[in-house]
Amino acid sequence: PVSAMEQENVTRQELGSLHGIPLYKSFIKGWPQVKAFQARPDDLLISTYPKSGTTWLSEIMDMIYHDGDVEKCRRDAIYNRVPFLELKITESPSGVEQLENTPSPRLIKTHLPIQLLPTSFWEKNCKIIYMARNPKDVVISYYYFHQMAKIHPDPGTKAEFLENFMAGKVPYGSWYDHVRGWWEKKQEKNILYLFYEDMKKDPRPELQKILQFLGKELAEGTVERILHHTSFQEMKKNPAANYETMLPTLMDHSISPFLRKGISGDWKNHFTVAQNEHFDQHYQELMAGSDLHFQMEV
Ligand code: A3P
Repeated sequence: PVSAMEQENVTRQELGSLHGIPLYKSFIKGWPQVKAFQARPDDLLISTYPKSGTTWLSEIMDMIYHDGDVEKCRRDAIYNRVPFLELKITESPSGVEQLENTPSPRLIKTHLPIQLLPTSFWEKNCKIIYMARNPKDVVISYYYFHQMAKIHPDPGTKAEFLENFMAGKVPYGSWYDHVRGWWEKKQEKNILYLFYEDMKKDPRPELQKILQFLGKELAEGTVERILHHTSFQEMKKNPAANYETMLPTLMDHSISPFLRKGISGDWKNHFTVAQNEHFDQHYQELMAGSDLHFQMEV
């Protein structure tokens, strides 16, 4: 049972700052343990900026790790099957504690920007899959997530949230720095860089890229089953994947479901023409000189 005091600790708090990155204060308290985290060589890290398809990729990875066995992948909620490295809230074991009790080979989720990733992932040369999503869909998804997940500060109006997002004044900071930081690192490290929009357009070749990256082969029927089981419609009705088992004090799905729309280009239903022009201009400035490109719709 969660005491009123504990709820008070994580609900609608202002963000703190972790080495200049805005983050939940409770996560910052747990930072020493995260920084000292001991990765294992066969760990696989799933890294994303929030709302970029983390849960989707996590479900795909757990399915791959269990040879497409749907029942095995219902054994627990996705946030326990793929522990969240930097998670730290009073109610539950921290991500690091969960991971210490997870047998290898482990799947690990993080939203940390590249410069904050615990060094042991580099030392152990762990495989990393990064998934990026276009910022217009990310900001809309993040806005609704702020409304339903009470660990976030109140997002204010959509217009206010858009400004905060562009200024990097949201948890995990600047989207632009995040996607660029991981993109640049991929030149020298063991990183597979994927895009939500490619997955949406046709998940099969993306799944093949993952299998190749893992050095794994699966039977055609297994691939088929994975694609079906990880579709938006299937995940939305799967209690092990849709976060509905989360404490209602932390997430209120009646405000907005965790698996909300699952499409590319929903931002068009939310941005005004002026907001879009302003956003595009700012985007050009911040992404200048990069060969990283996004599809804003598919
Ligand atoms: P929307 O809010 O746009 O619907 P994360 O897991 O990183 O928090 O990302 C959540 C976003 O991914 C949500 O976006 C969610 O609907 C979407 N998503 C989750 N599973 C998906 C799937 N199987 N296919 C497409 N989108 C999915």
